[in-house]
Amino acid sequence: MDLVAVGITGIGSYVPNTVLTNQDLEKMVDTSDEWITTRTGISRRHIAPEGTASSDLGVLAAERALKSAGRTPGQVDLIVATTASPDLIWPSTACLIQAKLEASKAVAFDVSAACTGFVYALTVAAQFVMTRTYKTVLVVGADAISRFIDWTDRNTCVLFGDGAGAVVLEEVEPGYGLLSSYLGADGKGSDLLNIPAGGSAKPANIETVEERLHFIKMNGNEVFKFATRATIDAANKALKASGIKEEEVDFLIPHQSNQRIIEAAARRLHVANDRVVSNIQEYGNTSTASIPLAIDEIWQAGRIKKGDILLTVGFGGGLTWGANVIRWSKDR
Ligand code: ACO
Repeated sequence: MDLVAVGITGIGSYVPNTVLTNQDLEKMVDTSDEWITTRTGISRRHIAPEGTASSDLGVLAAERALKSAGRTPGQVDLIVATTASPDLIWPSTACLIQAKLEASKAVAFDVSAACTGFVYALTVAAQFVMTRTYKTVLVVGADAISRFIDWTDRNTCVLFGDGAGAVVLEEVEPGYGLLSSYLGADGKGSDLLNIPAGGSAKPANIETVEERLHFIKMNGNEVFKFATRATIDAANKALKASGIKEEEVDFLIPHQSNQRIIEAAARRLHVANDRVVSNIQEYGNTSTASIPLAIDEIWQAGRIKKGDILLTVGFGGGLTWGANVIRWSKDR
C-alpha cells in the first residue's frame, strides 16, 4: 500500500488558572519547597476547578488545535483521546470530547497507556492518516489527574498537575511529519505505578475507600530507575528507525515527570540543555498532556521552525514507554 506522510498541522493546549505552589503543599503535608525543588524541579502545578473533568480540559485544548489547523469540529474524522484520569471507566473520554466539541462525524476512542499515552495515541492515530483511512484526526491528551491524587500522601501529591494538549494530524508533504515511532510495554511492572481500586479487579466499596485505594500509588525509586532507562532506550530506538542522528535533534521533548530524569536522559542522549524542553517547574507532571503542552509552548514562543527535528519521549504506568521522531511540517 502507498503510505502518505502524516504531520502535525495544528496544535493547542490548555491549563487551568488555579495554581498550587510548593508553599501551599507545605501546609498540607510534611514537605518543603526545598525538598520538592531539589528532588523534582517542580515549583507549581495547576489544578482544575471542581466540576471540571479531563474531557473539559481536552475540549479547550482541541478547540485551540483545530483553530491552529484552520479546521472546524465538523471536519474531524477521528478523535483519539488519551488520559490517565478518564471522566468515567466508560464511555471513552474521546466520545465525551466528541459530543462537547460537536464533532458529529468523528469516530472516537481512547488509547490507554498512562503517562506514555500521548506517544501511543499519536502513533496509533497516525496510521489512519498514513493509510488514507481518515483525513483529519485529532489527538488529545487530557488529565484532571489531581482527582486521583491522595492529598495526604507526600510521596505522590507534590508531583502532579492538571492540563491538556491536542494536535491535528493530516497528510503533509513527503519527507516531513512523523519519521518514526517506537513503543514498549512491560505489564510485569504494573504494580509499580497504578490506581489499585475502582476497576473489576477491586470494585469500589467501603474498604477500598477507607484504604485510599482509588488514588495513584507509586514506588518512586523503582519508577525513577525505569524512567531514566526507558527514556534513553525509546529515544535511541526511534532515532535509529528514523535515520536521524542525536546531533540532528533540534528539540528533545521528554515526558515532564522529574527534572532529574530529564537531565540524566538528555546527558546520555548528548542533547545540549538549550535543546531540551522542560516546563516541569510550572506544571509538574500533567501525565498525557505533558508532551503536547511542551510542544505547544515552544511553538507559541516561535522557537520551532519548519524542518526542525523533534524527538518526543514518554514513559509511565503499564509499564509503558515510547518515542516519536517528527520533522516539523507546519509553516508559521
Ligand atoms: N517531601 C519530603 N520528603 C519526602 C517527600 C516529600 N514530598 N516524598 C518523599 N519524601 C521522603 C521519603 O519518605 C524518604 O524518606 P525516608 O528516607 O525517611 O524514608 C525520602 O524523602 C527519600 O525518598 P526517595 O523516594 O528516596 O526520594 P527520591 O530522591 O527517589 O525522590 C521521587 C522521590 C521524586 C518520587 C522520585 O523517586 C521520582 O521522581 N520518581 C519517579 C516518579 C515518576 O517519574 N513518575 C512517573 C509517573 S508517570 C505515570 O504514568 C503516572
